[in-house]
Amino acid sequence: MTLPDEFVDGHDVEGNTVSHPFRRLASVAHSNFAPRCRRWRESLRVLTRRVTVIPMPTFTLFINPRHGTPGLVTLPAAGFRRARAEITSWDGYAPTPLRDLPLPGTIRLKDESGRFGLGSFKALGGAYAVVNLLAGELARRDIAPSASSADLAGGRYAEATSRITITSATDGNHGRAVAWAAARFHCRCVIYIHATVSAGREAAIAAFGAEVRRVPGTYDDAVRACARDAAAHGWFVVSDTSWPGYTEVPRDIMQGYRLMADEAADQWTGPPPTHVFIQGGVGGAAAAVAVQTRARWSQPPPAVVVVEPDRAACLLASARAGRLTAVEGDLDTIMAGLACGEPSLLAWQELERATTAFMAIPDAAAIDTMRYLAAQGIVAGESGAAGLAAVRLALADPDARAALGLGPESRVLAFSTEGATDPSLYAALVHAPAG
Ligand SMILES: Cc1ncc(COP(=O)(O)O)c(C=O)c1O
Repeated sequence: MTLPDEFVDGHDVEGNTVSHPFRRLASVAHSNFAPRCRRWRESLRVLTRRVTVIPMPTFTLFINPRHGTPGLVTLPAAGFRRARAEITSWDGYAPTPLRDLPLPGTIRLKDESGRFGLGSFKALGGAYAVVNLLAGELARRDIAPSASSADLAGGRYAEATSRITITSATDGNHGRAVAWAAARFHCRCVIYIHATVSAGREAAIAAFGAEVRRVPGTYDDAVRACARDAAAHGWFVVSDTSWPGYTEVPRDIMQGYRLMADEAADQWTGPPPTHVFIQGGVGGAAAAVAVQTRARWSQPPPAVVVVEPDRAACLLASARAGRLTAVEGDLDTIMAGLACGEPSLLAWQELERATTAFMAIPDAAAIDTMRYLAAQGIVAGESGAAGLAAVRLALADPDARAALGLGPESRVLAFSTEGATDPSLYAALVHAPAG
């Protein structure tokens, strides 16, 4: 891909790292929005009283100056082969569809809304990590040297596993996947959620028998509360984010996520994709997709664009700073699954060199894309729609198209990582039930 000079190095004349914002005008019909974020709703009300056509807030595109530099192998291939063999053996496993979209060029969307009946891709990672953790713990306690997932699901070691407690912090989807795995593989589960996780998402987790604890603050505060209580009670943390000294479980989770991109590669027909757009929270999914698309399409690998909400763009901030960086604030975005202020260490080690560009997008773009997809008969939640929302923003903007090398010949793979994981919020935003 050839980029104009100003996009290649990402520095201004004084050597400061800079981003390249693009604007477009969008006609947005706001009157019936009912997002759960109070501040967002209030500012929207002020706007809608005065205008019917408003400038869509700036989106930011940052071309990664460190793209392509050599680094560590974060996700070894053998680990992925184990994850694929395990997950594809589970009851209810089926590849999710890859759908063609009627947009210029070739745009295909991997639709994760039907994954294991849980509404998002997350079981690929969280549930896989739970199996490994339980099997490992049974071996360590000399109960079973190598318990299989079939043994665990069948309840063969239920007496021992029911004394094991797994715990996690979540913005909804990961916790639901972990709670599902705890019910399926017979262990106890405590899930931490933060202040603004919706009641619908809380109920979906509790439905699997997990104890749900709501804590004040953001996702990152829930991560800390979970780690503190786990240390106090001897529970096992199944976190989808990693930090120094905690990488084994998140690595398993990311190895599981790779299956989503692996299936897409199996389903892809014709010449390989030129671009892959994938949304990021802590970055685990994006890193897994980057690794697996590179493994499947290496000559040349597709450009990887990582997409975040503009109010929680910690990966973009890290790319700008040239090191892992947290963003402050209340991370007030409707894209709940992406509302993370601190990147995962392991994910960042991959993304800092694998990512071609980072994009930060406004909530309005995700909502607009949910509606666009609904019109195509595809149900995508707020975080699920983010990747395609960025594709649509970039396609509509000449500067962004030039910077990313997007054109009529491009072949884009995007991921809709969730369906209507909060059905009442979905209905309020799309003005239609989830189906
Ligand atoms: C629907 C959805 N998409 C994407 C992500 C981002 O995944 P990660 O936090 O690994 O970057 C999440 C995380 O919870 C999610 O729920």
